[in-house]
Amino acid sequence: MKSVKSVVNRSQTPNDFGIQDEFSGIAHHFPDPFRLLIRETADSTNDDLSSLACGGAADGLVLLALRQTAGRGRRGAVWFSPPGESLALSILVRPQEPKALWPRLALATGLAIAEAVESFGPPTGIKWPNDVWIGRRKIAGILVEAGPDFAIIGIGLNVHTTDFPPEVSEIATSLSLETGLQIPRAEVLAAVVRRFAIRRNQIGSEFTDLLNAVRQRCVLTDHRVSLSTSSGLKQGTVEGIAQGGELLLRTDHGLECLIQADEVRILD
Ligand code: BTN
Repeated sequence: MKSVKSVVNRSQTPNDFGIQDEFSGIAHHFPDPFRLLIRETADSTNDDLSSLACGGAADGLVLLALRQTAGRGRRGAVWFSPPGESLALSILVRPQEPKALWPRLALATGLAIAEAVESFGPPTGIKWPNDVWIGRRKIAGILVEAGPDFAIIGIGLNVHTTDFPPEVSEIATSLSLETGLQIPRAEVLAAVVRRFAIRRNQIGSEFTDLLNAVRQRCVLTDHRVSLSTSSGLKQGTVEGIAQGGELLLRTDHGLECLIQADEVRILD
């Protein structure tokens, strides 16, 4: 039986046929079990996909919004994703691995995006735990949210954006700005899904392979950083990433192994 890999949901504002055409057929380039659902408009693809997951949607569903009206970043930040210029999508996974290992999905996703972007030219870095950088500018952010038996992996990726809001204009970049090319968003999407299909299988027994590739791209290693953790603000020098994916930070109190941190800033 032939599987249907892409569904366009025109239930909301059916006026973007040109943009829809941009993605037509691309899901045939997705590896199993990934399928594409396109929505003209979503408040947040993470929220919409979470509802679909609660309703029983299967592992591998990718929800792409052509217009995202209330995209969320980490720490409740607003995520800027201008229609036609960036990719705003979420991927539903139902991992076989124990839930304790699910935080590794952020590293797997960051690496997948980095590898996909690199396939179009620019060398990328991973800013532990959740961002993809080119040079010292952010090209993509990741928001992983866990449900009872699933995880939603939200990805915002700047593809053609050239004008960013003032608050991020000094720290954001896009594939077009870095390459001078208008790479079709559909090709970028397919590249991300293909790399993700490989890397998401490495959060368990093959984690060392994943980790080594992340370590090679870690933009924080050997830099002095400040970051906020659940036990307060810390400063130190990053020595690398530990066996479980934690950040190794040398502080005045010794070597600390951080599971999670926010607002990570490079100081030098
Ligand atoms: C961050 O860097 O703070 C994470 C940004 C994640 C943004 C994406 S866009 C698609 C998905 N839906 C959302 O509401 N957020 C994520």
